[in-house]
Amino acid sequence: MSKDKLWGGRFAQPTNKFVEEFTASIDFDKRLYHQDIRGSLAHARMLGKQGIIPHADVVAITDGLMKILDQIETGKFDFSVSLEDIHMNIESRLSAKIGEAGKRLHTGRSRNDQVALDIRLYLRDEIVEVSAYIDLLIDSLLFQAEQNIDVIMPGYTHLQTAQPILYSHHMLAYVEMLKRDKARMEDCLKRVNVLPLGAGALAGTTFPIDREYVAEQLDFPEVTRNSLDSVSDRDFALEFMSASSILMMHLSRFSEELIIWSTSEFKFIDLSDGFCTGSSIMPQKKNPDVPELVRGKTGRVYGNLMALLTVMKALPLAYNKDMQEDKEPLFDTIDTVKGSLKIFADMIREMKVNVATMRAAAAKGFSTATDVADYLVRKGMAFRDAHEVVGKSVAYCLNKKKDLPELTMEEWQSFSTMIDEDIYDNITLEASVNARRATGGTAMERVRQEIARVKSDK
Ligand code: ARG
Repeated sequence: MSKDKLWGGRFAQPTNKFVEEFTASIDFDKRLYHQDIRGSLAHARMLGKQGIIPHADVVAITDGLMKILDQIETGKFDFSVSLEDIHMNIESRLSAKIGEAGKRLHTGRSRNDQVALDIRLYLRDEIVEVSAYIDLLIDSLLFQAEQNIDVIMPGYTHLQTAQPILYSHHMLAYVEMLKRDKARMEDCLKRVNVLPLGAGALAGTTFPIDREYVAEQLDFPEVTRNSLDSVSDRDFALEFMSASSILMMHLSRFSEELIIWSTSEFKFIDLSDGFCTGSSIMPQKKNPDVPELVRGKTGRVYGNLMALLTVMKALPLAYNKDMQEDKEPLFDTIDTVKGSLKIFADMIREMKVNVATMRAAAAKGFSTATDVADYLVRKGMAFRDAHEVVGKSVAYCLNKKKDLPELTMEEWQSFSTMIDEDIYDNITLEASVNARRATGGTAMERVRQEIARVKSDK
C-alpha cells in the first residue's frame, strides 16, 4: 500500500506492483549500504550540532544505524523492493526501530543529494583499490623484465618484424601505459572527492546546516558549490569509466599480444596451466582464455561508458530518475577492471618466456637492416643514400635466400666500398639493441635505468 511508502502522503492508490519492481533499485544499490549509513551518521551529527534536531535523537539515530549496519553485514536485514532503494530501506527500518527520532533523520536532506554522496563515497574507495591493483600489475611486469632483462625478441610495426628489442623493454612499455592509467585514476579522484550533501532536492535547504562540518566528518577536502549541479552531476563517474576504458584498451592490446605469442606459430611464451583451459573435443588444446576474456571484457567497459554517457545526454537539470541507471554500469566497470587487473597481475608473474624462439625470430626478417644503414651514416654516407644501399642489399639477400649477417665481405663491398669487416660486429642482435642508448631506447643499460626509475617513483 502507498501508506507504507515514506513518500505515501499524497497518494490515494497503491503503487502498481510491476511499477514497484520496475522502478526499484534495491537489488543493485544495496551495495551502497555502508556509505549510506556513514553519510547518515555524519548528517545526523551535524543536525544535532546545529540544534536542528535534539541531541537525544542523534544518539538514538546513531545507535539504530549501527544496529542496522550489523544486521546487513550479518545477512539479517530483509531488503524490500517496495521500499525502492537502499536509502529508503535503511531509513524506514530505522524509524520502525527507534520511532520519532528516525523520522527526523531526513531533515534538510533529499535522496538526490544522498545518492550522489553515497556514490562518491563508494567510488573514492574503489579508485584507491583500482590504483593498488594497477601497482600489482606493474610489479609483475617489473618482475618479468628483471627476470628476463637480456632476452631479445623481434620488435614489430604493422606486425611485421622491424628491429630487435629487449623483451624487458616491451614489458616496460605496458608499465608506462599503466602509470598513465594510475595518474588518470588519481586525477579523477579529485573530482570524486567533493561533498554534494546539503544540496537538498535541488535548490539547497532552509535549515541552517553546516556542510563544511559534514565534509570534515566524511574526509572530503571540498564541498560542491552549486546545488543544481551537485544533484545532477555524474561527470565523476564518467571520468572513472573513461579512464577505465583506456585502461582496458591497454589490457586488450596486451591480451592480443599474449594470445598471438602463445600460438604454435609464435611460441614466444607459455602461460601457466592455471590460466588456460582445454578443449572438450581437441585433446591437444591449451587455450589462452584469460587474455581472451579480458580482451572481451574491454567491450563491456566501453559499453558501460557509452551507456552512462547516453543516459546523461540531454537530461535537463537537475535530478531525473534516468540517473538511477548510473549504478549498474558503474559497478560493473569497477568489478571488471579490478578483476582484469588482478588476474593479469597473477598471470604475468607466472608467464614463461621461450628465449631461443624469441631470439631466432628476432634474427629473421632483416631486423638489423636499419643498423647497416646507421653504420654507413657513421662512416659518412647521408642517411637517404644509406637507406637506398641497404634496400638493394636486402633485395639481393631475398634473391639469394640469405640473411644480412651471412653476406661475405665481397658481397657487402659490391653495395658500398665504405663497408668493412667491422660490419659484422655492428649487426649482431646485441649490438643492434645496445646501440639504442638514448633516453627511452631499448639498450639494456637504459632498460635497467628505467626499471630503477619506476621502482623509485613508487
Ligand atoms: N534510487 C534513486 C537513484 O538511484 C535515489 C534518488 C531518488 N530520488 C528521487 N527523487 N526519486 O537515483
